Amino acid sequence: MEGYSVHAMRPAHIADMLAEDRYTQPALCGECHSLTLHGPDGLALLEQDTYGEWRKGPFGDEGVEPGGTVRPCVSCHMPKIEYPDRPGPREASHRFLGASTHLSALAADAERLDDLTRFLKSADIELGLAARLRPSLAEGSRIVDATVAIRNRGVGHGFPTGALDLNEAWVVLEVRDAVNRTLWSSSPGSEESATAPQGIRLRRVFRDRDGRAILDHDILSAVGHLEDLAVPAGARVERRLEIPIAADVVPPLEVRGRLEHRGINRAFARLALGEPLPELPVTVIAEHAVSVAAEAEGGQPEESRPRAASGGGDGGVVVSSQPRDGDDRRSPQ
Ligand code: HEC
Ligand code: HEC
Repeated sequence: MEGYSVHAMRPAHIADMLAEDRYTQPALCGECHSLTLHGPDGLALLEQDTYGEWRKGPFGDEGVEPGGTVRPCVSCHMPKIEYPDRPGPREASHRFLGASTHLSALAADAERLDDLTRFLKSADIELGLAARLRPSLAEGSRIVDATVAIRNRGVGHGFPTGALDLNEAWVVLEVRDAVNRTLWSSSPGSEESATAPQGIRLRRVFRDRDGRAILDHDILSAVGHLEDLAVPAGARVERRLEIPIAADVVPPLEVRGRLEHRGINRAFARLALGEPLPELPVTVIAEHAVSVAAEAEGGQPEESRPRAASGGGDGGVVVSSQPRDGDDRRSPQ
């Protein structure tokens, strides 16, 4: 399909069209990539807002720092590429690589799935971990105090984005002992339950009028959120966990984390596709492991790439915006 319409037109007409800058304006994309649900009683619920996320972030026209460069949507999603069958200037790709790995898998389009996976993995997102062992009040057990942080450096908007009740990302955490046995692991994101597992889960769960979770994308019944967490562009989210561990485990212990993404949640997939559920691809975006510090040592989250990291956070999820450039990587405390 690519270039199909272009071929049917006269070169001068194509040149005229391409000279118009409205095609590169993010406001054009924002016409569709921002959606508010309006309901009775003045209800206005944001269903998706990739455009708004972009505007407020370090790549957008509102959030860009003085002297910084705005990066329009097309700079990432429509890069200039060469078309081997059409010699001449490079043309903007119309493949719109994003995050819908499930669609390519269902269409058995291995090439696009590959490209999408590469695109997702190239997003500059870091996983940070810190862990410290401490005594527990419960006899025969100890606690691993773990801090998990996700930093969105390079995605032009939130991660994930789009319909956040369908797209989801999460961190799988594991505690291992010296002989590589898994002592504890957080539930993976495959659970459909509305209750968040221990760990970080990036997604939105709408609620209906009775307070029940809507997991099947029945957005017209939504009146609010039960969960709503994504990592804004340029920002970092952090959560602290207390993981109970038997007292007689063999140190040193290690905490491993894996940030994973899936283009569609399983409850909706089941509704749309029925049983047996086809395999829905999960993309590993970042991985990291740290050894668990002994009781006396400190625990600053260490990023998956060596950089000065920040501490802080008093339980729950903390979202902080980040200095966007330069050498000062410390987050505001
Ligand atoms: C007329 C409405 C409309 C406009 C305008 C529009 N889009 Fe989309 N776009 C859509 C719809 C609908 C989808 C599919 C949404 C889904 O799968 O959840 C989509 C999907 C995408 C995807 C995701 C593909 C994937 O694999 O996940 C990207 C990236 C994207 N659009 C970028 C853009 C950019 C960049 C612009 C502006 C140049 C733009 N869109 C303008 C409606 C639009
Ligand atoms: C700096 C690069 C960059 C810019 C700028 C950017 N994006 Fe993205 N976009 C990404 C990456 C990386 C992903 C995959 C990670 C994710 O889903 O957050 C993505 C994913 C998406 C998706 C897929 C969500 C889905 O439902 O599957 C859509 C739609 C999208 N972007 C639209 C836009 C629009 C619209 C703009 C401008 C308002 C924009 N992007 C600007 C890098 C960018």
